[in-house]
Amino acid sequence: MEQDKSVGVLELHNIFFTIRKQSKEIHLLENINLQVPTGHFMAIVGPSGCGKSTLLKLIAGINQETAGSIHWNGRNLSEEGDLEHSEIGYVPQFSIAYESLTVEENIENAVRLRAKTASRSEFEKLVDDTLLATGLDEIRDRMVKVLSGGQRRRLSLALELVTDPVLLLCDEVTSGLDPKSEQEIVSLMHELSRNEHRLVINVTHSLANLDLYDSVLVLSEGKVAYHGPPRAIEHYFSVENAEEIYSQLSKRGAAEWSASWEKHKSAYYDTIPAAPHGDPNISVSAITPNATIQFFTLFLRRWKIFFRDRGQMALQFAILMIFPILVIIFELDGVEQTHRLSETRPETLAEIEQERENFTFNLNLGGVVSGLVMFQVILLTLMGSNNSAREIAGERNIFEKEKFAGVRPLAYILSKAAFLSVLVLIQSIWMAVFVQSICQIPSENFAFHLLLLLCVNGAMTAVCLGISSLAKTADQASLLSIYLVGFQLPLSGAILALPNWAGWVTRPFISAYWSWAGIMDGTESDYLRYIREVTDTWLAPMWLCFVVLLVHIASGLFISYLGSKRPRWDA
Ligand SMILES: Nc1ncnc2c1ncn2[C@@H]1O[C@H](COP(=O)(O)OP(=O)(O)OP(=O)(O)O)[C@@H](O)[C@H]1O
Ligand SMILES: [Mg+2]
Repeated sequence: MEQDKSVGVLELHNIFFTIRKQSKEIHLLENINLQVPTGHFMAIVGPSGCGKSTLLKLIAGINQETAGSIHWNGRNLSEEGDLEHSEIGYVPQFSIAYESLTVEENIENAVRLRAKTASRSEFEKLVDDTLLATGLDEIRDRMVKVLSGGQRRRLSLALELVTDPVLLLCDEVTSGLDPKSEQEIVSLMHELSRNEHRLVINVTHSLANLDLYDSVLVLSEGKVAYHGPPRAIEHYFSVENAEEIYSQLSKRGAAEWSASWEKHKSAYYDTIPAAPHGDPNISVSAITPNATIQFFTLFLRRWKIFFRDRGQMALQFAILMIFPILVIIFELDGVEQTHRLSETRPETLAEIEQERENFTFNLNLGGVVSGLVMFQVILLTLMGSNNSAREIAGERNIFEKEKFAGVRPLAYILSKAAFLSVLVLIQSIWMAVFVQSICQIPSENFAFHLLLLLCVNGAMTAVCLGISSLAKTADQASLLSIYLVGFQLPLSGAILALPNWAGWVTRPFISAYWSWAGIMDGTESDYLRYIREVTDTWLAPMWLCFVVLLVHIASGLFISYLGSKRPRWDA
């Protein structure tokens, strides 16, 4: 990648970021003007809440400025399009690595998802170079969950470096570290900025290690109070030590500091080396891989995480084994009856009496078959919600970050669908076959019975995936999904019939009803007669049940896709 690289410059012109609060306009950022060349390391400092992260997100393109413009190499980013995903590295404050994967695995995945490589050896070289550049080589085999705070920050930086970004934006990557680790991470960022094509910006409220930066931007209530070399800070703020500038800032209003800066800035600003505009069309950063590669990477990574998580695996296995047994235990009394429908032709009085007894027996039997199937269906909906409720919400921060880095929502959702399909297949087939081998539910065609169970598990899994993509937290998604399962039984009408109007309103949304009704419709006609006797609920024809369940699956996946496309930044 040593082709004709261009030297660049980032310019901010009259940037405002304004929000409306109770019909009043509040400028979170006001009239920011900046010019920073590449090969440069800049700090953004200021007291908490002064707008540092907001400014960084504007530069990253996560937030849109209200007024003003941002230029990269002379290209107006708001008008001519943002930088490519691979051209920006954005390191948020939260951890963006998978805890149960090793350092090396996380970096390998980042390369597969974000940086196209031509060959296996190029791939390995990029992984090795990244590990070496960030000082992680010696701990490449270590799981993320055992890393120290400083090592985690190195890893966060490493994940961004795989694309060789021209703009590396870091938000509080040193916060919470001890002074030595902080110094090491700032030094690492400084080294990373010694690249004529790269600009590194670090947001921090720490005033230690300022001498490692080429320039320091001091913000006060959304306004620029200073932007110049670190060595001139003490003089500008008339303090002995840079650490004192926050107390100094609080002595005068932000407007006053800003006015004073406007007056004096040329003297300081000129000391920052300017860079000529490079060619805005030349990029030195990597190319983002296509959707197929991203899909397979995400799919395989999901399995690896599944197998590493012993707790989740044990839970899945226990549910898989125990639920079908539950069905049989609860219906034990009725189970042996399912094989013995009594049909006689009464001729004598005694036979008529016998026939009456048979009828009661058969009615009971109809109830048993209906109950058995409903139990199968309900437990499969519970498995469905357990499959997917936390799937997206539980890793939303990481996904949001990966989406920003170029991972396509479609590849992400399809990888989830493929992973979950395997669980659904195993669960439904085992449930159907195990229960059938003991109870012999009298279906005309067992294949349809199995498919309807597969569909209801798939429908609930897809719908809960949709909930997961919309929820704020994994706990919220879990709770909503459990409610949804809880409503299945009462609203299905299989146990107690609902008032007619209520049935028509709720039924379209109750997957359990459609699976149960479809299976009932497919039972042998002798049995169906008695099932109809014991249930007051309308039994939809089987074809309609398949259609509705497929619509549920499709809607669940579509909602998941929309939910995952929607930006959701927490930090
Ligand atoms: N989209 C938004 N809508 C409303 N208020 C916002 C929005 N974004 C940020 N703010 C507010 O703007 C102010 C600046 O936020 P910002 O996160 O940029 O501060 P900061 O300088 O990074 O602070 P810290 O050092 O604590 O991280 C805060 O008061 C915050 O609550
Ligand atoms: Mg912040």
